Amino acid sequence: MIINNIVHNNSLLFKGFLVSGFLSLFMLLSSFGYTQTAEDEKNFQVCKACHTIGDGKLVGPDLKGVSEKYDEAWLIKFIQNSQVMVQAGDERAVKVFNENNKIPMPVNALTDDQVKGVLLYISAGGKLADGETTASTDTEHDGSVDLEVAEETTQLIAEMKRDGQRNMSYVFIILIILFVISLFDLVVVKVVKAKWIHYIIMLTSVIIIGEIVFVEASGLGRQQYYQPDQPVWFSHKVHADQNQIDCKYCHFTADKSMHAGIPPVETCMNCHAQVKQGKKTGTKEIDKIYAAFENNEPIEWVKVYNLPDHVYFNHAQHVNVGKLDCAQCHGEVEKMDQIIQIPDLSMGWCIECHRTESVQFATNKFYEQYTKLHEKFKNGEMPNVTVQNIGGDECAKCHY
Ligand code: HEC
Ligand code: HEC
Ligand code: HEC
Ligand code: HEC
Ligand code: HEC
Ligand code: HEC
Repeated sequence: MIINNIVHNNSLLFKGFLVSGFLSLFMLLSSFGYTQTAEDEKNFQVCKACHTIGDGKLVGPDLKGVSEKYDEAWLIKFIQNSQVMVQAGDERAVKVFNENNKIPMPVNALTDDQVKGVLLYISAGGKLADGETTASTDTEHDGSVDLEVAEETTQLIAEMKRDGQRNMSYVFIILIILFVISLFDLVVVKVVKAKWIHYIIMLTSVIIIGEIVFVEASGLGRQQYYQPDQPVWFSHKVHADQNQIDCKYCHFTADKSMHAGIPPVETCMNCHAQVKQGKKTGTKEIDKIYAAFENNEPIEWVKVYNLPDHVYFNHAQHVNVGKLDCAQCHGEVEKMDQIIQIPDLSMGWCIECHRTESVQFATNKFYEQYTKLHEKFKNGEMPNVTVQNIGGDECAKCHY
C-alpha cells in the first residue's frame, strides 16, 4: 500500500512533467518558421506589458525614439540586463531607473541580434516591413494552447487525486464488508466449515484496514495538492512567466531570511499605479489592490505551504547557502494561474533530498571546519558531500 502510494505520486509528477515537456516542445516547434521580422514582433510581446511605442508611459518609459536617445551597444546591454548596469553605476542607467520609481526591468533573455531586431521593430513604430505577415494571430494561438495545457495539468492533478482517494475508500469499504461477512458466517450461519478460511480473511482485512487508517492518519495535517482560492485573482503565470518578473522581486526575503514572505500591497503598487487593467480580469481584480492600498489594509492571502510548528525550515539556508532553485520544492510556479502545493511536505520528503543533494562544499568556506570530510573531498575519495554527511538528518536540526 505504501509502495503503491509512492508509485502513484510519482506517476502524477511524471504526467505533469510529460505535459509540460510537450508544452515546451510545442512552443519550440512553433517558434520555427517565423520570418525574421515576425519574430521581432513576437519578441516585443513581452515588452508590451510594460512599454508602448508612442502611446505614453506604462510601467516603463514610452519607447518611441529610443534609438535616437542612446547608442545601439548601450541599448543592447541595457535591454538584456539593466540591473547589472544600474548596480555598476552607469550614469544613464541609474537616471532612467530613478525616474521610473526604481522599478527594475526584468532580465530579457534575448541575443544581441534579437535585440537589434526588436529595436528595428520599435524604430518602425511597431509595424512590420512590407510583405511580411503578422505573427499576432499565431501568437494568440500560442497563448491559448499554453493556457489549455496548463489548465489540463491542474485538472489532471485534481482528477488523479480524486481517483486515488476513491480507490482507497473502495478498498476500505470492500474489506470491511469481507470482514463482516466472515464474522457472520463464523458465528451465525456457518456455511463454510473450515474455520481457518475465516481467520485468514479476517486477519488480512484487519491488517490492511489498519494500514490504511495509519497512512491516512499520519497524513492528516498534510495537504498535498492544496489549492485554496485567493482574495485577489493573482496569477504567477501572468507575472513570473508572461512578464518575466523575478521571484525575488516579490519574495524579496527568500534569500535573506527564514521566510520567503508574501509581498505587501506597496510592492504591487510599484507597477499597478500604472498598470490599471489585466487582459483576463480587466479592472475587477486590480481595483482590489487600490482598495487595500487606500484603506491601508493588507490583502488577506491564504497560506498554501504549511509546516507544523515543531519543524524548523529556513529559506535563506536552502536558497542562498544551498543554491537550490525555487522549482525544486515548489514546482513550476510560473506555469500556474493559481498556486497549488506540489510536495507533501512530509518528513520523508525533507530527508529524501538531504540524502541525495550535495552541499556547496567546494565554495562554502563554512565547511572548512569539517576537516576530515574536507580531506576526503580533496583527494577525491568523496566526490559529493551530501546534506546528510554534514548532519542534515539529525533530529535537532529540524525539530525545536
Ligand atoms: C515588467 C516590465 C518591463 C518589461 C517586460 C520590459 N521593460 Fe523595459 N523598462 C521597464 C522599466 C521599469 C524601465 C525603467 C528603467 C529601469 O528599470 O531601469 C525600462 C526601461 C527600458 C528602456 C530605457 C528607456 C528609456 O527611455 O530610457 C528600454 C530601451 C527598454 N526598457 C526596453 C525594453 C524592451 C526592448 C523590452 C522587451 C524585450 C522591455 N523593455 C521589457 C520595464 C519593463
Ligand atoms: C528546500 C525547499 C524549498 C526551496 C528551495 C524554496 N522553498 Fe519556499 N517553502 C518551502 C517550505 C517547506 C515552505 C513552508 C514553510 C513553512 O510553513 O514554514 C515554503 C514556503 C514558501 C512561501 C510561503 C511564505 C513563507 O515564507 O512561508 C513562499 C512565498 C515561498 N516558499 C517562496 C519560495 C521562493 C520564491 C523560492 C525560491 C527563491 C523558494 N520558496 C524556495 C520550501 C522551499
Ligand atoms: C513588476 C511589475 C508588477 C508587480 C510588482 C505586480 N504586477 Fe500585477 N501585473 C503586472 C503586469 C505587467 C500585468 C499584466 C497586465 C496585462 O494583462 O496586460 C499585471 C497584471 C495583474 C493582474 C490582472 C491579470 C489579468 O490578466 O487580468 C492582477 C490581478 C495583478 N496583476 C495583481 C497583482 C498583485 C496582487 C500584485 C502584488 C502582489 C502585483 N500584481 C504586482 C505587473 C506587476
Ligand atoms: C508580482 C509578485 C510575485 C512574483 C514575481 C512571484 N510571486 Fe509568488 N506569490 C506572490 C503573491 C501575492 C502570493 C500569495 C498569493 C498566492 O498564493 O497566489 C504568492 C505566493 C507564492 C507561493 C505560495 C506561498 C504560500 O504558501 O502561500 C509560492 C510557493 C510562490 N509564491 C513562489 C513563487 C516563485 C517560485 C516565483 C518565481 C517563479 C514567484 N513566486 C514569483 C507574488 C509573487
Ligand atoms: C530539494 C532538496 C531539499 C529539500 C526538499 C529540503 N532540503 Fe533542507 N537542505 C538542503 C540542502 C542542499 C541543504 C544544505 C545547505 C547548506 O549548505 O547549509 C539543506 C540544509 C538544511 C538544514 C541545515 C542542516 C545543517 O546541517 O546545517 C536544515 C535544518 C534543513 N535543511 C531543513 C529542511 C526541512 C525541515 C525540510 C523539509 C520541510 C528540508 N530541509 C527540505 C536541501 C533540501
Ligand atoms: C530534514 C528535516 C527533519 C529531520 C532531520 C527530522 N525530521 Fe521529524 N519531521 C520533519 C517534518 C517536516 C515533519 C512534519 C511531517 C508532517 O507533517 O507529516 C516531521 C515530523 C516528525 C514527527 C511527528 C510525526 C508526524 O508524522 O507528524 C516526529 C515524531 C518526528 N518528526 C521525529 C523525528 C525524529 C525522532 C528525528 C531524528 C531521527 C527527526 N524527526 C528528524 C522534518 C525532519
